[in-house]
Amino acid sequence: MSNQLSTVITGIGELATNDPERAEQGGLLGLVHDAAVVVEGSRVAWVGPAAEAPDADVQVDAGGRAVVPGFVDSHSHLVFAGDRSAEFEARMTGQPYTAGGIRTTVARTRAATDEQLTSHVARLVAEMRAQGTTSIEIKSGYGLSVHDEARSLAVARQFTEDTTFLGAHVVPAETTPEDYVDLVTGPMLAAAAPHARWIDVFCEDGAFDVDQARTILAAGSDSGLRGRLHANQLTYGGGVQLACELGLVAVDHCTYLSDADVSALAASGTIATLLPGVEFSTRQPYPDARGLLDAGVRVALASDCNPGSCFTSSMALCIALAVREMRMSPTEALHAATAMGAAALERDDVGVIAPGKVADLVLLEAPSYVHLAYRPGVPLVAGVWQAGRPVVGPWG
Ligand code: NIG
Ligand code: FE
Repeated sequence: MSNQLSTVITGIGELATNDPERAEQGGLLGLVHDAAVVVEGSRVAWVGPAAEAPDADVQVDAGGRAVVPGFVDSHSHLVFAGDRSAEFEARMTGQPYTAGGIRTTVARTRAATDEQLTSHVARLVAEMRAQGTTSIEIKSGYGLSVHDEARSLAVARQFTEDTTFLGAHVVPAETTPEDYVDLVTGPMLAAAAPHARWIDVFCEDGAFDVDQARTILAAGSDSGLRGRLHANQLTYGGGVQLACELGLVAVDHCTYLSDADVSALAASGTIATLLPGVEFSTRQPYPDARGLLDAGVRVALASDCNPGSCFTSSMALCIALAVREMRMSPTEALHAATAMGAAALERDDVGVIAPGKVADLVLLEAPSYVHLAYRPGVPLVAGVWQAGRPVVGPWG
């Protein structure tokens, strides 16, 4: 044994592990009943029946409640300043959502100090953690100048390694599309790349077309950034097929898909990350998750937490919407919000509860993970261990 403190969480009525080695008995979620988990340092050391659990320094009794992997939110835009509740209110009384609202947030973000941006992100990350999210991706995209994109990413890097350069969010008011693509692929990329793991483009009417997205993703790849894409959110278009052609790990939104888009996703293995909080908050039609899953497409769920199209940080809400509105089963939805979120970030150390993996665990005030969808809007998170540390609940 190492000298790191160990904790055994015992009395787990239902444990969702996502461990493929448990699929035969435990299904997609690798369920174990009457389970225990031992955490040592930042990692899971042991998983199995409570009756066989080894001893540990600290004992926690889950009292028959359910434990699930921490949520992996693979799509968020947390670095921003200002408030767009008036835009939301106008939308709820008939205005459509358009990409142009992004410019409102850009003006406010540029005017904010680094300290203001950092404390705002810290508040949102804490809000997410309290709701069971233990891994996040954070995008830039509200700076849209060399200086403001680089500092947005430097702020995001304080909270996660999964930072994404989204200079290509919209063309800012002060420039032309041609000049802006040159800036994004040149000096802005050079300033952003040291702080980013990923590059993303908003491929949409009113933002960037397929050719521009191809150019920007290629430049990012040349600078060592992995690609991902916002596509087919507001209209049909070629973004999803571009993502599949390039073999990107994930393409996000996928609201307006043709049969050819679905076939391309199934054939390529590119993950369709669905963001149902957006459709909830914009009154758009939901993506066809059922059709995608039935066609063999890999599906992840994420929040898209941002000030415009969707200002929720709740993965539990996304699960409930996926089940109620997109006909995913509760099992598929939890898997998509954990294991598939991890896959969408090319992470194999999170989203699964198994020996050697990062100990990100959520204790629910419920006997089963099904309650995440069955009890929409109810705060069910009773405890969170993040990298083995108790960060929510009375065990800290
Ligand atoms: O993912 N689609 C582009 N970007 C965000 C919305 C940004 C905004 O409206 O501020 C999204 O929905
Ligand atoms: Fe987004």
